[in-house]
Amino acid sequence: MSKTILITGATDGLGKEVARRLASQGHKVLLHGRNPEKGRLLLSELSSATGNNSLEYFNADLSSLVEVKKLATDILNAQERLDVLVNNAGIGPRTPESTRLSSRDGYEIFFAVNYLAGYLLTRELLPLIKASAPARIINVASIAQAAVNFNDPMLEKNYSDGLAYSQSKLAQILHTMDLAQQLEGSGVTANSLHPATLMNTKMVLDSTALPDSRTTVDDGANALERLILNEDLATVSGHYFDCMEDASPDAQASDVQAVKQLRQLSEDLIAQVN
Ligand SMILES: NC(=O)c1ccc[n+]([C@@H]2O[C@H](COP(=O)([O-])OP(=O)(O)OC[C@H]3O[C@@H](n4cnc5c(N)ncnc54)[C@H](OP(=O)(O)O)[C@@H]3O)[C@@H](O)[C@H]2O)c1
Repeated sequence: MSKTILITGATDGLGKEVARRLASQGHKVLLHGRNPEKGRLLLSELSSATGNNSLEYFNADLSSLVEVKKLATDILNAQERLDVLVNNAGIGPRTPESTRLSSRDGYEIFFAVNYLAGYLLTRELLPLIKASAPARIINVASIAQAAVNFNDPMLEKNYSDGLAYSQSKLAQILHTMDLAQQLEGSGVTANSLHPATLMNTKMVLDSTALPDSRTTVDDGANALERLILNEDLATVSGHYFDCMEDASPDAQASDVQAVKQLRQLSEDLIAQVN
């Protein structure tokens, strides 16, 4: 049966490949990106390559909470259901020099784009996702993980791109644990995924801070497509997968206090748009 699946960051890399696969299987894929021209080309490329005319494109720069909120509103206004939400969009470590940058709301950019945007988007879409149960939420995280520093979450004192990326990725995993617990019994599952190590995507190929790519986008796409569609995983929730394997994330993910603290911090940070 055809599902409605939102993939953030579908204009390139992993998101684009998984969107192409799902579209070719007849699913209604809601494509998200931040560049309207790239989005227009993506929509026309995937529609003609797959013959699927149910695809839709939504634009939002995830470094702005106002745009994240508008993205959620646009989807709520246009869709009757949402079977799968994939929080995939992200930025990776860029240069070894590591210049700390801020989002449009003044938050550390990795925390804002890789984590907080997905937190707010999920929060806003949750009523529709619950009404569509059985449904799934998948956070594309990473094997690169660093404990959330609650004394300095914006990393003002001790910054590097690598640390900021790893903190944002573990924050996604803590968020997944929180969602799984809150959604128990609702028919909505929440899981996180490290798709593959150093895939040949823009994030890796354009970076001077990362080693050469070692895997292909197909490797990551296989792992992500499985979490989206595999019926054997329909009731699995609160898990972290390293590619195809059930795995253990950093210990902070099982610290109930840290999970609660991150929720409170996130609520405080998004208060300006709520
Ligand atoms: N590559 C790896 O080896 C690897 C390993 C572990 C985890 N991951 C995770 O996998 C996910 C996908 O990464 P990828 O390798 O496919 O990277 P990618 O090829 O660089 O694609 C990233 C996607 O996110 C979008 N994006 C970036 N910043 C955004 C913003 N501010 N607002 C809206 N969209 C934004 C990009 O849009 P544009 O097309 O406009 O740039 C693109 O669609 C990420 O969460 C990443 O952390 C990747």
